[in-house]
Amino acid sequence: MPHLLWAEQEPEDWWRAARRAIHAVLRQAAIAPTAIAAVGLTGQMHGVVLLDAGGAVLAPAIIWCDGRAQAECDAWTQRLGAERIIEWTGNPMLVGFSAPKLAWTRRHRPAVWRSARHFLLPKDFVRFRLTGECATDVADASGTGLFDVRHRRWSQEMLAALDISRQWLPAAFEGPEICARVSAAGARATGLAAGTPVVAGGGDQAAGAVGNGVVSEGLASVTVGTSGVVFAATGQMRLDPQGRVHTFCHAVPGQWHVMAVTQSAGLSLRWLRDTLGVQPGAGDAYDRLCREAARSAPGAGGLLFLPYLMGERTPHLDPLARGAWIGLTAAHRRPELIRAVLEGVAFSLLDGLQIIQSMGIQPQRLALSGGGARGRVWPGIQADVLALPCLRWNRDEGAAHGAALLAMAAASHGQSSAAALQEIAARGLHAVAQWTPSTAARPVYAAAYDAYRECYPRLQTLFPRLSASVAVSAAGDRQAAARPAAADD
Ligand code: XUL
Repeated sequence: MPHLLWAEQEPEDWWRAARRAIHAVLRQAAIAPTAIAAVGLTGQMHGVVLLDAGGAVLAPAIIWCDGRAQAECDAWTQRLGAERIIEWTGNPMLVGFSAPKLAWTRRHRPAVWRSARHFLLPKDFVRFRLTGECATDVADASGTGLFDVRHRRWSQEMLAALDISRQWLPAAFEGPEICARVSAAGARATGLAAGTPVVAGGGDQAAGAVGNGVVSEGLASVTVGTSGVVFAATGQMRLDPQGRVHTFCHAVPGQWHVMAVTQSAGLSLRWLRDTLGVQPGAGDAYDRLCREAARSAPGAGGLLFLPYLMGERTPHLDPLARGAWIGLTAAHRRPELIRAVLEGVAFSLLDGLQIIQSMGIQPQRLALSGGGARGRVWPGIQADVLALPCLRWNRDEGAAHGAALLAMAAASHGQSSAAALQEIAARGLHAVAQWTPSTAARPVYAAAYDAYRECYPRLQTLFPRLSASVAVSAAGDRQAAARPAAADD
């Protein structure tokens, strides 16, 4: 985060890490690379990787949680109209999506823009290095803000309006479709066999849902990784008229999904771990934090936490939103502080679930996954707050497992059929833990959630002022240090 609201990564780091991971997997599995039938890819969504004509990376990737491009979002929404953008792409233009980041780059990094010939999403950059092909999948493409989610193809209208060349964009495939093969260079770099088929795969959420068996209507999932996502598969495309949840193509051919996104879910607990520190001792730091939280009762002694450490998407769509503990007293100790964080993330997930329910999607149970599904404490809080039975499957590899299943569907059926994928995703899946919502905690959480919902509207006007004061002091620092400006113009 070189500046307030910015979040960048180096694409070559991903390729280096992928190479290392593939070598390690081949070594540990002790199988011949030629025994691998197909490879699937998954990764963080919404990022912008720009390559020149020779395939070199032109600038650090602007990643999913970057909030710098609000001015571009506002300008394009005003120019085109929110309804038209939703009609073309299925979603409003949001600061986290790729389109405004591209518009920002055109304006603030003109040298990069002039040299750019290819735009890729993060995992598709890894595919490019592995195969030499520019390709993506319809689920990840849906999060660019340039994709016609209804017709599962790039939106000609949106590309024309933003003046982005179709030549820049990768071809879009269904998740289990073979779209490329490992090249000789990719094989040398990774140890995979040249010619191994590579399927399109999926963005992390769609691929994670395949791994979680969320491949048709009925079951929904809650994944607490860095971000937190409530995800439901739908047989038809369904929209929230206010655009608070995303409507994207699923990695399952012919299916869509809706998802609500909390920007800082696991990230809130990681921030707490890194900031408060955890007492040295045996075991995982997160487990210890959760055990400490369990010493406080539901409601955390009247303490609330707003998890807006990276702004917020669902339901507020506000990159300037800020996190807070609200209601601190001298009686509060670490267990209350930690518990309030766990509960605050769960309240944010509830905001999302309620919107999904208001769209007529009524999941009967939720599959929990990601770091937030570990242990008993945080999953229990999620079940109580979300007021639905929750379970954890016998798989916890998340999106990576889903990507492998997408590859398996292509390898075993030779075609990208939804039915084949649904059967493969359900195979061998069984619950290893279950949580029933507690009736005793319900009134406490109902009252706490009521108060939580009031916090954002009451604080909303304060957040831009806090960001403005940081911008002012940062500008002062920059002048004092006479550092060059971050943008290249
Ligand atoms: C989904 C989303 C996250 C990121 C990072 O919209 O932003 O899933 O891909 O995990």
